[in-house]
Amino acid sequence: MAALVNVKGLRKSFGDLEILNGIDLDVEAGEVVSIIGPSGSGKTTILRCINLLERPDGGRIEVDGQVLCDDGPGGRIKFASKGEIRKIREEVGMVFQRFNLFPHMTALENVIEAPIAVKGMDKAAAKTRALELLDSVGLSHRADHYPLQMSGGQQQRVAIARALAMDPRVMLFDEVTSAVDPELAGEILLVMKHLAEQGMTMIVVTHEMGFAADVSDRVLFIDHGRVVEEGAARQVLGAPREERTRAFLKAVLERAPMAEEDEDDDLVDDRAADEPSWGADPLAAVKSSEAETVARLQSEVEELRRRLAETEGTSGDTSAGGSAGLSEGRQPDRAGPEGGR
Ligand SMILES: Nc1ncnc2c1ncn2[C@@H]1O[C@H](COP(=O)(O)OP(=O)(O)OP(=O)(O)O)[C@@H](O)[C@H]1O
Ligand SMILES: [Mg+2]
Repeated sequence: MAALVNVKGLRKSFGDLEILNGIDLDVEAGEVVSIIGPSGSGKTTILRCINLLERPDGGRIEVDGQVLCDDGPGGRIKFASKGEIRKIREEVGMVFQRFNLFPHMTALENVIEAPIAVKGMDKAAAKTRALELLDSVGLSHRADHYPLQMSGGQQQRVAIARALAMDPRVMLFDEVTSAVDPELAGEILLVMKHLAEQGMTMIVVTHEMGFAADVSDRVLFIDHGRVVEEGAARQVLGAPREERTRAFLKAVLERAPMAEEDEDDDLVDDRAADEPSWGADPLAAVKSSEAETVARLQSEVEELRRRLAETEGTSGDTSAGGSAGLSEGRQPDRAGPEGGR
C-alpha cells in the first residue's frame, strides 16, 4: 500500500541558505512519526512544505495519492493547481507552536469557522460536531470562552479540535507543548495520545522525548536539513546508531527537569494548580488517565536516559536532580520553575 504521505528529495532554501537538503519521509495511514532535531535544523519547514505553507524548491510531495508538487523535466518543480492544493490542504490538519486561535471568537466559534467557511457546512451541523470535538479534548465546558479566558493548554486543545473539525487524513503537530507551562503539557499530550490510539496519522515535531518514545512508531532525527537517522522510536531514542543523534539526545535528556508540581498556574486559568487540568470533577476518570500518561512519559524519559548512558558504557545517572522532565525542549523564555508565576 502506498504511503499516505510521501515526501521525496524535498529541498528548500531561504535566500542563499539551503534549509532542506533532500528530505525523504514516508508515513503510512495510522502511523505516528516524530521528527526531532536541533533548533534551526528545518523541522518546521518540513511541516510547512507538506501543506505548502512554504513553497519547496525541489522534490515531490504526495498526500493521499494526490501530488502537490514534483520535479518536472529539467529539474524545475511543478505544483498542482490552486484548486487541487486547496483540496489536499483540507486533508492536512496542522497545529502550531503558538495556538493561532482567533482572539475575537469563542472556542466554539473557532472550531466551526473553517467547516462553514471552507467546506460550506451547515451551521447547526458544524456546531454539533464542534461540541463533540471540544468534548473529546475535555473542553465542552469552555465552548463559550474566548482564548484569553483559557490557559495555554486549553487553547492548544481548542486548536487541536479546530484542526480536527476539517476531518483531516493526517495531522501535523509542530512543538505544540513548547509554548505552554510545562505542567499543562500533559493534557495536550494525552489528547494527542488518544488521537494516535484512534488511528490518526500523525507527524509530530517534538522535544518531548517521553512522548516520542511512547507514542511514535518511528522517529526521524534531522540536522542541517538532512535525515541523519531514522528508525523505530525506541531504537533511535534509546540506542542511536549515529554519534550526532546521541549527542543531541544526551543534551536534550539532560536538560533541566520540569517545574515543581505545586507552582501556580496561568492567572487566566480558573483552576487551582492541583485541580484536574481537564476541568471539573465529572472528568475525574480523564484526570486519572492524564496522570497515568504523565507518569508513563516520565518513566519513558528515565528509561531513555538509562539506555543512552548504557550504550555509551557510562553508568552514571545523567538526570539532573532525579526527577524526570516531560518538557525537555523548554522555551528559552520560560524561566524555569518560576515560569508559571
Ligand atoms: N521564512 C523564512 N525566511 C528566512 N529564513 C527562514 C524562514 N523560515 C525559517 N528560516 C530559517 O530556516 C532554518 C530552519 O528553520 P525551521 O523553523 O524549519 O527550524 P526548526 O528545526 O523548526 O527549529 P526550532 O526547533 O527552533 O523550531 C532556520 O535557520 C531559520 O532561521
Ligand atoms: Mg520549529
